[in-house]
Amino acid sequence: MFTSTLLDWFALNGRDLPWRHTRDPYAIWLSEIILQQTRIQQGMDYWLRFMQRWPRVEDLAAATEDEVLREWQGLGYYSRARNLHTAAQQVHARGGFPTTMEGLRSLKGVGDYTAAAIGSIAFGLPAAVVDGNVYRVLARHYGIDTPINTTQGKKVFTELAQSLLPTDQPAAFNQAMMDFGAIQCTPQSPRCVICPLQETCEALRTGRISELPVKERKLKVQTVRLTYLYIRCNGKVAMRKRPAGGIWQGLWEPLLTEDTDLLSQARLLCKDVKHVLTHRILLADFYLWETDTRPTLPEEYVWMDESDMDQYAVPRLIEILFSKIPSST
Ligand code: ADE
Ligand code: SF4
Repeated sequence: MFTSTLLDWFALNGRDLPWRHTRDPYAIWLSEIILQQTRIQQGMDYWLRFMQRWPRVEDLAAATEDEVLREWQGLGYYSRARNLHTAAQQVHARGGFPTTMEGLRSLKGVGDYTAAAIGSIAFGLPAAVVDGNVYRVLARHYGIDTPINTTQGKKVFTELAQSLLPTDQPAAFNQAMMDFGAIQCTPQSPRCVICPLQETCEALRTGRISELPVKERKLKVQTVRLTYLYIRCNGKVAMRKRPAGGIWQGLWEPLLTEDTDLLSQARLLCKDVKHVLTHRILLADFYLWETDTRPTLPEEYVWMDESDMDQYAVPRLIEILFSKIPSST
């Protein structure tokens, strides 16, 4: 009942998205990686640009990491872009996309969710997608209050989604669930009065729509202070590429310093610029120092032409700080 009603709804209301006109696993994989943490409207522009610049997976594999990061700039969560590039090389090396769930999961950046999406949409594999939309629709319709961000919750909802998936139409079912959650059973004010599932919806019957799905509280996010110094010396600027392991891996930034002697010679451009990440709140101060003699810096810093800076991918926070820099005198 649930499944057939959902599929009927999808036939009438499903969204017309460019990657739904192809079975090309590359195009579908790219769309899924972009849409992992990005809204459709914004993601669409990026998908079109990537497909135009790198129409095949071999083309993306042949790009440099800097080029890929640069094209990704503005989408955030840059590990996705690095993984995208690595996975393109994996696919190229093995001569094409894997066609099994296990094979798909072996690609960098492809977890259960993305493997199920690509597997079902590109190859018709009977794997149910479980994302935020799916949790919400199922938690409400079936009145399930198991917290969705727990091992138990993941298991309960995955098994339920899998049991509802029609093995002959996995692509339609998965995309129907996503669209239904995005358009019909939305987080705030779902459209219950026009919902085709209203007669069987447990949350509607028991008045628990605003309580479902349940999420377990996690620890408070911590605040981190950062001080950046933009050193301008004869048309050059000291920058470094962020190392592996931490946030913003592979992106560029100016000198990160606590050195008060150095900072005392500099001009404060802005203070306490707040930038919210998933697990951290950053508070950044930004200084400018114009000098004719290069200071000695840790060896990972390089002096680059200020006029070339727009060719390097920087985190969104750095982009915001850079907008405060007066042009060179
Ligand atoms: N979000 C992520 N993947 C999607 C897809 N294939 N269709 C709609 N929304 C999505
Ligand atoms: Fe969601 Fe409301 Fe439909 Fe239930 S009746 S599935 S809460 S939109």
